Amino acid sequence: MHNIKTNWALIAHGGAKDIAPDEELANREGLMEAIAAGSTLLEKGAHSIDVVEAVVKILEKNPAYNAGLYGSVTNEDGIIEMDASIMDGETLDIGAVAGIQDIEHPIMVARLLLREKAIFLVGDGAAKFAKEKGFSRILNHSPAKHNSPGCDTVGCVARDKYGALAVATSTGGLEGAKAGRVGDVPLPGCGFYADSKRGGVSASGDGESIARIMLASEFLYFVRDMHPDQAVERALTLLEKAPGEAGLIAIAPDGTIGWGHTSPNFAVGVASEGVKPSAYLKKSEEKL
Ligand code: GLY
Repeated sequence: MHNIKTNWALIAHGGAKDIAPDEELANREGLMEAIAAGSTLLEKGAHSIDVVEAVVKILEKNPAYNAGLYGSVTNEDGIIEMDASIMDGETLDIGAVAGIQDIEHPIMVARLLLREKAIFLVGDGAAKFAKEKGFSRILNHSPAKHNSPGCDTVGCVARDKYGALAVATSTGGLEGAKAGRVGDVPLPGCGFYADSKRGGVSASGDGESIARIMLASEFLYFVRDMHPDQAVERALTLLEKAPGEAGLIAIAPDGTIGWGHTSPNFAVGVASEGVKPSAYLKKSEEKL
């Protein structure tokens, strides 16, 4: 852990997707709530790994977003299967789960895997691990209803006062997807990555396209030489090779924030030391 105190930075997203007019307010307010809570923690000196988990928990709880038990979409069999991942940019520890069911906060299960030898558990193995760690299955829940066509992931990247980066990402996957289908979210270098010396990044969008081009990894390559906004843009152009929609949120090692998307909307909240939280539903709003 770095000892020198420096500026904190925070960015979170609620999915690269279409946002129907009647869902705009909920998307914006949900991001503001999550970013405000994360900002308070970072200002008090919390570590980025705790902050990204806390922010994603708030987003998982909110039915406006496709993550957690209350907002996730269902697969072809009408079942909610969720994926989540978390990464500590100081140690490169990873915790990821896929195909987990009936758990309120998949990100909490991923977090408990963070310091284990295994980095990624799926299906029955993930459920067994969650049970061993004391998580209860919640069986009487109803699937969320979203009016927006296409509905994606939530994620958060944070840099704390000590210069440490962390990332957390969580999703209910794609509506009507094959049972057992896993997208980019639990795949390091695809849906997420954090290294305090290289940058932190969380993706959202069509998981198969994101995985094919290793979107998070490409961002880290570009951000060595340019502003993270530009690095996001460059990485997203690679979707031409694997067509699909996506968005990225990112923080460079010096705390500079970047984000962008190819989807019609991308619900994003940002804050940094001395700068109050803001929420946007598309990148062009930031420049207004
Ligand atoms: N980006 C989420 C998924 O494709 O599962």
